Amino acid sequence: MTVNPASQQGKSESKDAQSDVDSCTRILQVMEKLSHIKDVDALLDEVLLQARLLTRSDAGSIYLIENNVLKFSYIHNDTLFGASGVSRYLYASQTLEVDNHSLAGYAALTGEPLLLEDVYHLPAGTPFIFNDTFDQMSGYRTRSILAAPLITSHNKTVGVIQIINPRSADGQPAIFTPGDLLLLDYFADNAASAIERAMMTRELILRMIKMCEMRDPKETGVHANRVGAYAAEVYHQWSLKQGIADDDIKRQKDLLRIAAMLHDLGKVAISDLILKKPAKLDFEEFRVMQYHTILGARLFQNQASDLDALSAEIALNHHEKWDGTGYPGKIDDIYQDQFPLGAGKQGEEIPIAGRIVALADVYDALVSQRVYKAPWSETMTLSHIKDQSGKHFDPAVVDAFLAIYDVIVAIREKYQDEDSSALLTASP
Ligand SMILES: [Fe+2]
Ligand SMILES: [Fe+2]
Repeated sequence: MTVNPASQQGKSESKDAQSDVDSCTRILQVMEKLSHIKDVDALLDEVLLQARLLTRSDAGSIYLIENNVLKFSYIHNDTLFGASGVSRYLYASQTLEVDNHSLAGYAALTGEPLLLEDVYHLPAGTPFIFNDTFDQMSGYRTRSILAAPLITSHNKTVGVIQIINPRSADGQPAIFTPGDLLLLDYFADNAASAIERAMMTRELILRMIKMCEMRDPKETGVHANRVGAYAAEVYHQWSLKQGIADDDIKRQKDLLRIAAMLHDLGKVAISDLILKKPAKLDFEEFRVMQYHTILGARLFQNQASDLDALSAEIALNHHEKWDGTGYPGKIDDIYQDQFPLGAGKQGEEIPIAGRIVALADVYDALVSQRVYKAPWSETMTLSHIKDQSGKHFDPAVVDAFLAIYDVIVAIREKYQDEDSSALLTASP
């Protein structure tokens, strides 16, 4: 049988055109999905996943620009962590200058996307070098990289996305094509505005927490970031064990990180005499303090969104205890004028988000320095948490927490206490 080369070419061109249309349709559908994601980490996770699916890539990372430097912000690596695994590498702290010395720095500086067939054999005259620290540390072998700057519609570069090691349709190692480069660049431009919006949401939340910090020096931005991240990752691990569907996990994790950050917002309504008392509170003072849970929940009274509802739920329940000895307990109507606290909720009467934030908040308080106490050692903290499993804490939540303890430690290292103390010393 003979084949007519012209008709063959025609067929392959129309196949290419069809696949371009498919890719563009897919990008539009993805953009719709991205517009519903509120938290910046959840958004980066989805952006990276979709960019990798578009180009059938094994791994990738995203750097975001903060204070004029590129901050390592998200990573995927199917070979090393699997598709839905929780990884401590997510919370690595690495920064790069926006300059010619690194691949991501170069893409951010020039605004140009890059296609490199093999990063260990860069073309002569390439201004940057490939930093192989991650490969050395993990045993991974990076080959082909696509990098695209994330530039918003009003021309602001918010970061860089890198996609690594593509595979062919039958799963074999492949190299990126110029078509992949165009696709990633187009996708990156569209994703950049969604990322900028999510970064602004995170900023607004941190600003609210800074207001709270001016009243209560314990409630710092880094404490909120840590509690939000601990809660999100413990929830992820817990829900995998419960067999919850992947999409539902992602949706809830997105909201949970933000809502957990706001757990103590109700403290803005508590008197300075109590909040700033540099000693243990007496019985009456502690009673007043306990109302911060109810006052916090009231802040989200209108519950215009799922996020408001979850924030109210966490504010109200983060001091309940599994064995029923927590507060504020069962209250019919939290909007009444004056009322006593109720009998403590017990076990699964406490919503899961409250059970998770209870552990995240206590863990962070124990390992942190506070005016009235030195940080507890790792051993003491872990043995206390194990001892309180089934008493203060839900045993299944303790198990999830311990199963990802390396991630918990990485979060603690990423969000350290120093930046927020600057705000405190600057205040009159
Ligand atoms: Fe609290
Ligand atoms: Fe707290």
